[in-house]
Amino acid sequence: MDRVAKLLEALSNAYGPTGFEGPVRDIVRHELEPITDGMETDGLGSIIAKLGRKTKTPRVMLAAHMDEVGLLVKHITPEGYLRFQLLGGLLDYAVINQRWVVLTRNGPVPGVTGLKSPHTIPMDKRNTAMFKWQEMFVDVGATSREDAEERLSIRPGDPIAADSKFMPFAGGKHYLGKAWDDRVGVAAMVEVMRNLASKPSPNAVYGVGTVQEEVGLRGAQTASYQVKPDIGINLESGIAADHPGFTPEEAQEALGKGPGIFLHDGSMLPNLKLRDFVVDVANDIGIAVQFEVLSGYGEDGAEMQRSYSGVPTINISVPTRYLHGHNSVISRSDFDQTVTLVTEIVRRLDAETVEKLRNFD
Ligand code: CO
Repeated sequence: MDRVAKLLEALSNAYGPTGFEGPVRDIVRHELEPITDGMETDGLGSIIAKLGRKTKTPRVMLAAHMDEVGLLVKHITPEGYLRFQLLGGLLDYAVINQRWVVLTRNGPVPGVTGLKSPHTIPMDKRNTAMFKWQEMFVDVGATSREDAEERLSIRPGDPIAADSKFMPFAGGKHYLGKAWDDRVGVAAMVEVMRNLASKPSPNAVYGVGTVQEEVGLRGAQTASYQVKPDIGINLESGIAADHPGFTPEEAQEALGKGPGIFLHDGSMLPNLKLRDFVVDVANDIGIAVQFEVLSGYGEDGAEMQRSYSGVPTINISVPTRYLHGHNSVISRSDFDQTVTLVTEIVRRLDAETVEKLRNFD
């Protein structure tokens, strides 16, 4: 595996449920501290790396969220099982009978969401039996509440992350792993910053890893107020709808067909001049893009665009299959093209171009 694949592997494997992004933040800091002009964190935990010490404006904010969906310990039963709260949007059938890691103050503890044995369910109910997450529990092998608290150091509020390891497949063209939402965006942000560090752009670029996106874009809100961007570019995992069970009315992206551009989602509309600018740059450098119109979904661009007096913003995605599960899939070529495209977009965002994008006269 090359350096970029190893970065994607490290980011996918890192445990970072919402509100517990530390391990991901450490990777971002390790990657960007040596090559940027300064790093800081805001009061909620988002990390901000700056490029362009001399150039003060325009300010381009390049964001991706570091958190992943997960669980959180609600209480421990007298028998030692963990009842939990969901962190982010997880379907019931993505939670049951999976391996998990409880992130305690004394280190990780493995566990599994238990499954009721089918043998005990009457034949006529077997195919309709559905278990709600509220009925589920995590089995960590404790014999009692005291055993879980004292021997395993588990405490209510501890985050619980999916236990799932990165693996290249399809001959190295696809990468299987957890948390591509949004570690693929974090990796793209890091690689764009690396490109821009080697050949400066005519602006100040803020590469931001945000926290707590999955529970309502909370980190992007505070980070936007710290950066005060003139232009916002959010990097996300798109919804690849190229497998059985999807129609184009639900989602439109496919793996291997290049970066996605969100034209509508439940949280924001992009600036259309910025959309056209992005499409023009892509055409100019020969990168195919895909469009995505979603009814639902929410992403950090929404907070960037409504910070201060408003910011032209766009959400650019790496198509991803099976979001919000233990195992999702991306294409390496989509990732590389997204990095190339976003690097070129930022290089062309000089003061005059940004002024035109921000002009509504
Ligand atoms: Co996301």
